[in-house]
Amino acid sequence: MNGIKQVNKTDKPILNILNGLPSERNPVWLMRQAGRYLPEYRSLRAKAGSFLDLCLTPSHAAEVTLQPVKRFPLDAAILFADILLIPYALNQKLEFREGEGPVLEGLGEQGDLSKFSFQRNKLDPVMETLQIVKKKIPPETALIGFCGGLWTVAAYMIDGNSRNNFTQAKKWAAEKPELLDRLIALLLDASEYYLCKQIEAGAEILQLFESWAGLLEDEKFDRWVIRPTKELVARVKRKYPHVPIIGFPREAGMKYAAYASQTGINALGIDQNITLDYAASQLQPIKTLQGNLDPKLLVEGGEKMLQAAEAILKKFGPRHIFNLGHGVVPETPPDHVGQLVEFVHGFKTSQ
Ligand code: CP3
Repeated sequence: MNGIKQVNKTDKPILNILNGLPSERNPVWLMRQAGRYLPEYRSLRAKAGSFLDLCLTPSHAAEVTLQPVKRFPLDAAILFADILLIPYALNQKLEFREGEGPVLEGLGEQGDLSKFSFQRNKLDPVMETLQIVKKKIPPETALIGFCGGLWTVAAYMIDGNSRNNFTQAKKWAAEKPELLDRLIALLLDASEYYLCKQIEAGAEILQLFESWAGLLEDEKFDRWVIRPTKELVARVKRKYPHVPIIGFPREAGMKYAAYASQTGINALGIDQNITLDYAASQLQPIKTLQGNLDPKLLVEGGEKMLQAAEAILKKFGPRHIFNLGHGVVPETPPDHVGQLVEFVHGFKTSQ
């Protein structure tokens, strides 16, 4: 035996697609499908206090996870949390400021890593959130867990925020490669623990959000994106070989292909800057794709949105997970999400 177990068809279209099995319809979910565009999110967020409190209060976080699934027949719910909970568990000071986003106490030039120690129990509320969601989620809806890509989380830890386009993190990559290796190694161990725990708590699919993959070129991309991702995927799969992993190295451009073929992921998320022709001819032969409708078109809605969705569905055919090229933005009218999901589900590609 080669150790590959037969995976049976399930009631969850997204799991079937990820396992290479046919599905009656194209599955659809949206990055940031829970969030400020939903009035019910804004109201719970106001009650919770801070964004961090919302993430770390399991009953609230579970409710927010399920809000979009209650409104729309999405094929998956994604755990409500944040990629910066790993730095928080490593004891780095984290704040989400209104109107400004996350602010960490950045490492800056000095880069003293000795102050970090991984306090696993700080992530316990996230596992509780998953357990609550698991009990309440409809049987045909899959539950996605996630963490940040190691380079992306490292970049936030170094610069503290994204205001300066990660100047300091890029400087580390150029001038302190060994220190960056050490930070990434720390994140690798913590993220392996975090992802495996999420599976044990009920996550059926994992996504790696490498939002700032586009900042590194050539051998730097290889050293801090491809190689550590490959190691993380291998470690998780050693324990849980049947849990599919979606990798999303946003804005990786011409480097998407190397990421897809070398990291061991099951599916590749693509942003809206990749042309459909390139993705279908160069990337789809390597991996199942997820994406890539422009979030601005979801704001716009109407014919323009539906035509773009149709072009994606026609180009990629049935072996595709419909999603955006990045997250839903706060100004999105919720009705447009409903129209999009209905359109994707009603679309018949020739099987
Ligand atoms: O619905 C989901 O997708 C699940 C929850 C989720 C959030 N953040 C909630 C959130 C997920 C998967 C993330 C990932 C995340 N967090 C990424 C990777 C994806 C991406 O957007 O590129 C990054 C870079 C972060 C870090 C982060 N968190 C930023 C940069 C911000 C500020 C930007 C913003 O939209 O305000 C956050 C805050 C955040 N994370 C919000 C939400 C719903 C908004 C918080 C609020 O209510 O004020």
